[in-house]
Amino acid sequence: MATEEHQRLANIVKSCHESLRQLTKEHGAQVAWQEHTSPQNAKRLLEYANAMRELAGIWERNDSNMELQARSRIKWAIDYITKYFFTEGIYMQKRQREQRLLECYTSEQQLGEVTCEFLEEPPDRLRVLDVGSCFNPFANSPHLEVTAIDLCPATNDVLQADFLKVDVSPGLAEPDLCEGSVKSLPANHYECVIFSLLLEYMPSAEQRLLCCRKAYDLLRPEGILVLITPDSQHVGKNAHLMKNWRYSLAKLGLLRVRFEKLPHISCMVFRRAISIDLSRHWASIHREEGMCEAIKIPQDEN
Ligand SMILES: C[S@@+](CC[C@H](N)C(=O)[O-])C[C@H]1O[C@@H](n2cnc3c(N)ncnc32)[C@H](O)[C@@H]1O
Repeated sequence: MATEEHQRLANIVKSCHESLRQLTKEHGAQVAWQEHTSPQNAKRLLEYANAMRELAGIWERNDSNMELQARSRIKWAIDYITKYFFTEGIYMQKRQREQRLLECYTSEQQLGEVTCEFLEEPPDRLRVLDVGSCFNPFANSPHLEVTAIDLCPATNDVLQADFLKVDVSPGLAEPDLCEGSVKSLPANHYECVIFSLLLEYMPSAEQRLLCCRKAYDLLRPEGILVLITPDSQHVGKNAHLMKNWRYSLAKLGLLRVRFEKLPHISCMVFRRAISIDLSRHWASIHREEGMCEAIKIPQDEN
């Protein structure tokens, strides 16, 4: 059973999402986003940020309670990142798989000459960009050097930024700040980008796709995008949407390497493939009827 406090915090979060969705119905996603992120709405965004931080604390403490279980997303992400780059060297296994696919496509003349890019050795401390971080939940992980950004940070170690508006610039060595907010982020720089409960915050499929395109540009070759999305349904219910995400991300150059359904969330990892042409070709041959380049969520259908 959820406590009264849990319910109160959950209502703050829910009502913020509902009001953005309502604005979108009335004015379209662009105008709605403008209003939602305007200084006039700053108080509400801060109330949301604080509620989200407290709620996450409750989830962390209630890992045995099925109703409140969403806590494990942080641990799940850290475990996978560690296995991928270090303990199990999954990045090498996935590289070899892509090389085999490439050989197969080129020998059958489905693909011509392509350029491949590889990660050299992973660094001891991985550069991680946590987008929509809120309260920097990945801050104290020993192998991660985290840059945390959010529309409205709940803690001082999170930088303010609207990821939809931030530039991604080649040649930068670190985020470029202007008046306390992030103006640009370095392209081709991060081993890992995390979107934990981020995408469904945004009201349109196009905005979510734009975020994924930016993630591709920010990642180094063979770097990973960790995507965590709320999903309280059984595993098959949203399968058509998840397949479409996989297709859309492959079109951007990001191939899925992991999918796991946990209670209340789906956890996914996509990697920047060694060749964008390989990834796009994979997408084109796995495209099914009705698939399109968009990141849709169940709420879009209501
Ligand atoms: C549901 S909370 C998730 C917080 C945290 N990542 C977690 O897993 O608990 C979504 C967060 O994404 C942030 N957010 C939404 N759209 C954003 C954008 N375009 N740029 C930066 N942050 C954004 C919100 O401000 C909010 O803090």
